[in-house]
Amino acid sequence: MSVSKEVKRITTHTLQEMKSKGEKIAMLTAYDYSMAKIVDEAGMDVILVGDSASNVMAGHETTLPITLDQMIYHASSVVRAAGRSLVIVDLPFGSYQGNSKEALNSAIRIMKEAGAHGVKLEGGVEISESVTRILTAGIPVMGHLGLTPQSIYKFGTYTVRAKEEAEARKLRDDALALQELGCFAIVLEKIPASLAKDVSESLSIPTIGIGAGKYCDGQVLVIHDMLGINKEFKPRFLRQYADLNNIMNSAFKNYINDVKGKSFPNDKEQY
Ligand code: KIV
Repeated sequence: MSVSKEVKRITTHTLQEMKSKGEKIAMLTAYDYSMAKIVDEAGMDVILVGDSASNVMAGHETTLPITLDQMIYHASSVVRAAGRSLVIVDLPFGSYQGNSKEALNSAIRIMKEAGAHGVKLEGGVEISESVTRILTAGIPVMGHLGLTPQSIYKFGTYTVRAKEEAEARKLRDDALALQELGCFAIVLEKIPASLAKDVSESLSIPTIGIGAGKYCDGQVLVIHDMLGINKEFKPRFLRQYADLNNIMNSAFKNYINDVKGKSFPNDKEQY
């Protein structure tokens, strides 16, 4: 999408400046053109085309089934809508863990075919080769530590991570390692606020929290959760900003009633 002169595109450098100035970063997921357009026009700093699309768009139980082709489809729709926001896209499960060459090819496809501005990968030192290779090609990389949903079968549950010192120590080391490799930001998911504070203060790059408390440099939520589209998912960290499930349900019911009651369309709503 061509950007008009007045709209200043958010870049990874903007996020770095925001951290330096103590200005918080607002990030939200989106997976399609129409939603992304509203999110972008509202002034969101970053749009994440998350692999949570696997859950909220496709109805899978986990993020594991979504494919690279499907992520590219979602991402290209979002990129067409984004005039200002930085668009970051998740590399899906199985597209980067095998080897660094495969990781680079996956990231290149996302940048070339979707027109994204960067990619996000889950994991720490164990994926450092892949992170390095992607960065070497000039592709910005966002890290993701703490609860990493692509590893749900290793964790066994979606509960808070790194409560124990050993896991907290590894997370601190991973965060520093990702920064040293050249990542421009790191998502911290579902970890104690005190740990997220330590990590955020020790890094020069921004941290973006989800369920990681108020000391992160920015926050991210899944759009369906914050809009109240999912009725079942109400974790403690989620603030719901709308009740779209009820609003949509009553709109659909009114429409059904109008059609069945023959009041829609009326004389003015026809040619
Ligand atoms: O896939 C996703 O939506 C994410 C966020 C929860 C950070 O990775």
